[in-house]
Amino acid sequence: MARLPSVLVARAVFPEVVQRLRRLFEVEDNPADRIFAKAELIAHLAGKAGAFTTGSERIDAEVLDANPQLRVVANMAVGYNNFDIAACTARGVLATNTPDVLTETTADFGFALMMAAARRVAESEHFLRRGEWTRWAYDMFTGSDVHGATLGILGMGRIGQAIARRGALGFGMKVIYHNRSRLTSEQEAPIGARYVDKLTLLRQADHLVLVLPYSAASHHTIGTAELAQMKPSATLTNVARGGIVDDAALAAALRERRIAAAALDVFEGEPKVHPDLLTVPSVVLTPHIASATVATRRAMADLAADNLIAALTGGQPPTPVNPEVLAGGRLPVR
Ligand code: GLV
Repeated sequence: MARLPSVLVARAVFPEVVQRLRRLFEVEDNPADRIFAKAELIAHLAGKAGAFTTGSERIDAEVLDANPQLRVVANMAVGYNNFDIAACTARGVLATNTPDVLTETTADFGFALMMAAARRVAESEHFLRRGEWTRWAYDMFTGSDVHGATLGILGMGRIGQAIARRGALGFGMKVIYHNRSRLTSEQEAPIGARYVDKLTLLRQADHLVLVLPYSAASHHTIGTAELAQMKPSATLTNVARGGIVDDAALAAALRERRIAAAALDVFEGEPKVHPDLLTVPSVVLTPHIASATVATRRAMADLAADNLIAALTGGQPPTPVNPEVLAGGRLPVR
């Protein structure tokens, strides 16, 4: 009997999903959830045709060249900046991600963070827990309204549009956005979204939400110069990727009250957080959990497994990032 293809499940994941993979493949999993350094990742990938990865595994030319038998890397994330896609494509390695299944959940969380920043939810809760609440005051933790305010969205993809829908249809917000490409008028009309240039977005948004993918081109899209264009009453929310915001510059802007508040789910160099952010009270900080509901994480894991299975058994992977590899004929291994 032909040997089953081998796959690596690089991080701990739902046991049921690992079981699904075991029915078809030799599976090396990682229930202890150790995060592999590059040399360990290379070693664990030895002999593997496929890998189930998360954002913590960097798949680059060095990893691929050390494992020329690798055919597919299936990321359990919509973002795939941990993959060098050009290196994958050049070597005929299929890369896949998990779009769509997390859109609404991530938009819920982005909206929640934006509201928490605007209405000072975390800051006032910390004050209460410290035992500092002794009386009512007319100006205690006054924030800014969300309803009727101008929602600015930078990166109007699926998640950006889902946040815009919440703002426009649920909270009567005016929506402005900037994106590489403009939406069609059929997409803009139901939410009254207005396409503006980046400077106008920075200047007019009451609440600016970042939902753009990370790449070298989007590194520090928001730094000192951009923060200086924002209203002193504005909030900034990042549910996209660390590195899109210059975290040191943001901490300084918050400390000097050049903007009112911020909310971050993602950080440069996470899970480390810039120490200056930890000491600024007007920023809400969460540990990269925007897609973290039980149902959505399960759907993401299942979709990553679907991709891995299809790629290695001659099926059509549902969400390839570099589909041109499929035409190259190197998949599957059996
Ligand atoms: C999470 O950050 C993702 O990209 O899915």
